[in-house]
Amino acid sequence: MSGAEFSFDCRARSRLAGGWLLLAFLAMGISTLFAFLLVMLRTPFINPGWIDDRFFTHALVLHVDFAVIIWFLSFAGVLWSLFSRSRWLQAGWLALLFAFAGVGMILAAAFGSQSEVMLSNYIPVLKTPLFLAGLVSFGAGMLVLVLTSVGRGKRTVSSFGCHCAGIAVLTALLVLLWTVFSPVLDSSNAHYFEDLFWGTGHVLQFSYMLLMLVAWLQLARLAGIRLPQDGLLRGLFLLAVIPLVSVLFIHLQFLPGSAAYRHAYTELMRYGSWPVAMLLGGILLFRLRQRLANTNTWAGLALFFSVVLFAVGLFAGTLIRADNVLVTAHYHGTVGAVTLSFMGLSYYLLPRLGANTPAAGPVRVQIGMYGSGMLLLIAGLFWSGLHDVPRKTPGAEHLSNNIAGNGAEIFGMLLMGMGGLIGLSATILFLFLAARSLWPVQQTLFQRRVDQPGSS
Ligand code: HEM
Repeated sequence: MSGAEFSFDCRARSRLAGGWLLLAFLAMGISTLFAFLLVMLRTPFINPGWIDDRFFTHALVLHVDFAVIIWFLSFAGVLWSLFSRSRWLQAGWLALLFAFAGVGMILAAAFGSQSEVMLSNYIPVLKTPLFLAGLVSFGAGMLVLVLTSVGRGKRTVSSFGCHCAGIAVLTALLVLLWTVFSPVLDSSNAHYFEDLFWGTGHVLQFSYMLLMLVAWLQLARLAGIRLPQDGLLRGLFLLAVIPLVSVLFIHLQFLPGSAAYRHAYTELMRYGSWPVAMLLGGILLFRLRQRLANTNTWAGLALFFSVVLFAVGLFAGTLIRADNVLVTAHYHGTVGAVTLSFMGLSYYLLPRLGANTPAAGPVRVQIGMYGSGMLLLIAGLFWSGLHDVPRKTPGAEHLSNNIAGNGAEIFGMLLMGMGGLIGLSATILFLFLAARSLWPVQQTLFQRRVDQPGSS
């Protein structure tokens, strides 16, 4: 296992990476707060029934945007910062400023006036100028960071993987610009935001998958797993990003918002977003099993649960036939896998960015709780989805008001609730362990600590 995969040799770069890590943790905290509300409003016998549905939809917008957009892309900012060129560090700080300003505007809009909610897939929005300006500011921060950090020396497999993810984010931003200026989209149309973000949302999932692979490889190194040759790993990253070439054909062939355009992106996701990840995940789990003694390391455990969550999420995805919570099960498998891999990588990064090393015992408990809690949440959503419980609809399982009649749906959503509470408690434990390792901040964040390998 070598520290050489990620470079911590420049304190200025580590400080910038520390700034993005703080934004990532803040976003995870806010998303978790709203997930608590969602779980409460979707769990039978807990949902008090008198809470206005607008509360649910607002919470859903904030849960999704702070998790899928701000948590994931801020964490990407940590990795890109560690590989950015020294002469571009100022630009990195400017990007972080844009991102924080964006988050501030989104929060102000969220707690500001009552606003119309657009539950568009991937990037739902509150239809207010302040909220949209917040998204634009965050997006501008991402654009500046990606343009100033992608392509720096393909020195290590990890930096190569991060740059492939950067190319995917750049593609997603270009798709957004192409769609914004597309003459066919009409902003007064009820589906405007759905059509606007459809392409970008799909392409972003590729960048998250690529960064998850970077995290899997580092967790595998920490768990003492022998990795395939560097050349082969770089080849796998290239294979994983190449399907994005079809984005150009999609935009040359189909008009944004058309059924053919939507179908083309769904097909890109269905066939292009998972094969390399499942192949690498399978190899790593097979080699992890050979080193069974090492599966109880926090790194081995994080890798195990992240690969299993991803596989379970994909399996749920293959059964989607209608707009029900099977979609939500699919999402939470795949995004839960990315999230757990980032949590695992955070435990490796924190001591190398100057914080204290979190104790291995509580870290293992946190990872085990998050993995099993998310699997329970997904099992509940999966079962309810098979019984066609609609998504994004609080109290839907009671629709027929005949408990005997819809016992299966209620059982499923109770399971979702239980898994959700365990998963959310594990997320709070993660944020607590991370916050505690940062304390006292001044002394730790800027002073380099003795390198402590990811002890078990
Ligand atoms: C323990 C953690 C979590 C819990 C308990 C949780 C719970 C929920 C609940 C109850 C919903 C509403 C489902 C519906 O009404 O249809 C939801 C939606 C969603 N969550 Fe989470 N969530 C968690 C973590 C995450 C994470 C980490 C991400 C992404 C990084 C995420 C992304 C989403 C998305 C994209 C949706 C919208 C699904 C849709 O469009 O149907 N969640 N979540």
